[in-house]
Amino acid sequence: MSNKIIGVIGAGTMGSGIVQLAAVSGCDVVMMDANPLAAEAALEKINKTLKSLVEKGKLASEMANTAFSRIKIGRSMKDFNHCDLVIEAVVEEISVKKELFKNLEEICKPSCILATNTSSISITSIGSLCKNAGRVIGIHFFNPAPIMPLVEIIPGLATANATLAESVEIIKSWGKTTVIAKDTPGFIVNRVARPFYGESIRIYEEGIADFATIDWAMKEIGGFKMGPFELMDFIGNDVNFKVTETIWQQFFYDSRYKPSITQKRLYEAGFFGRKSGKGYYDYKEGAIKPEPVKNEVMGKHIFMRVLSMLINEAYEALYYRIATPSDLEAAMTKGVNYPKGLILWGTEVGLSTVLETLEQLHSMYNEERYRPSLLLKSSVLSSRK
Ligand SMILES: NC(=O)c1ccc[n+]([C@@H]2O[C@H](COP(=O)([O-])OP(=O)(O)OC[C@H]3O[C@@H](n4cnc5c(N)ncnc54)[C@H](O)[C@@H]3O)[C@@H](O)[C@H]2O)c1
Repeated sequence: MSNKIIGVIGAGTMGSGIVQLAAVSGCDVVMMDANPLAAEAALEKINKTLKSLVEKGKLASEMANTAFSRIKIGRSMKDFNHCDLVIEAVVEEISVKKELFKNLEEICKPSCILATNTSSISITSIGSLCKNAGRVIGIHFFNPAPIMPLVEIIPGLATANATLAESVEIIKSWGKTTVIAKDTPGFIVNRVARPFYGESIRIYEEGIADFATIDWAMKEIGGFKMGPFELMDFIGNDVNFKVTETIWQQFFYDSRYKPSITQKRLYEAGFFGRKSGKGYYDYKEGAIKPEPVKNEVMGKHIFMRVLSMLINEAYEALYYRIATPSDLEAAMTKGVNYPKGLILWGTEVGLSTVLETLEQLHSMYNEERYRPSLLLKSSVLSSRK
């Protein structure tokens, strides 16, 4: 339990979840949205969610009532002047976020931490208009915020150590697992997970297998809870495509993160997935899900190709000191529910097998996309000594 005063700006999908989490964790919360109707709707949604948690026996009725009474809707930015921590969850637009932080700094007390829930924008750039960027930090929740156990904490270049330590302490007191990520595109999870989607789409584009077969291979042989195409349809192809495109651009168009034409076309057609009724699969009532081709040999080949790319990305993230090995493992198991951490998985399947798979792909396609990480190569070499 925590007794801090929390401000949340932006009361959409993420903001409303963060408000609920903070209130249930014992904090007083001020919530504001540029659209007052959105704040009212968020309050209504939180009320409903708390009531359903009570009905399911997951929350005591008294606790739900107390939590709900802790939430206030702010009418102006001035209502944030007594907060200890303000978390911003507004639109993913750099100019909007930069301006917001500049204004917040004028209003909030000097000890207040200013955090952003951005998925893809640099924390350093968001804080760049602030006079004291030492109190600006990334606190990246996953959707739905009250349920997902992981939170990535991202200090920018100017973030003070005290801001980092206090942010970790507050988020841990809300029952979350925190990992610390360097301020680089996609932080940990959104960067390391890219090949799960990108390489699977590539396999489809090459005509090796259809969506259902690739999903079957990754679930049945790989043990993933959802196949890549099912997951993209769940996340939304609009969101997934935009995240991929942003990460690729921010890595100065490194071909390893290149988005695919297949997903761009789905995005352009409005085939966003479950939410639009059609994505890689058809979600209309009565639609029949295609059957996979359950060929074990092909399935193993698909799984090993995608897994090798994921392990390579994890090694690259380690090589560039994006996170510690233990934070990287926690991020992928708790942020995207992978059945195992990728470092552990690499040792289980054998790093030399992973390297061989990548080298074969690299020599076959002659594409930078398949270049093995230096750390992966040196780990294989040292294990052979
Ligand atoms: N949706 C996800 O899965 C997810 C996961 C992690 C992080 N994020 C990040 O969280 C942030 C919010 O995403 P979301 O999915 O909740 O978006 P959303 O569209 O559901 O909500 C955004 C809200 O911000 C409000 N808003 C816009 N500009 C504002 C301003 N200047 N001041 C106050 N309110 C403003 C909008 O009216 C809207 O209600 C983004 O930065 C996004 O990248 C999203």
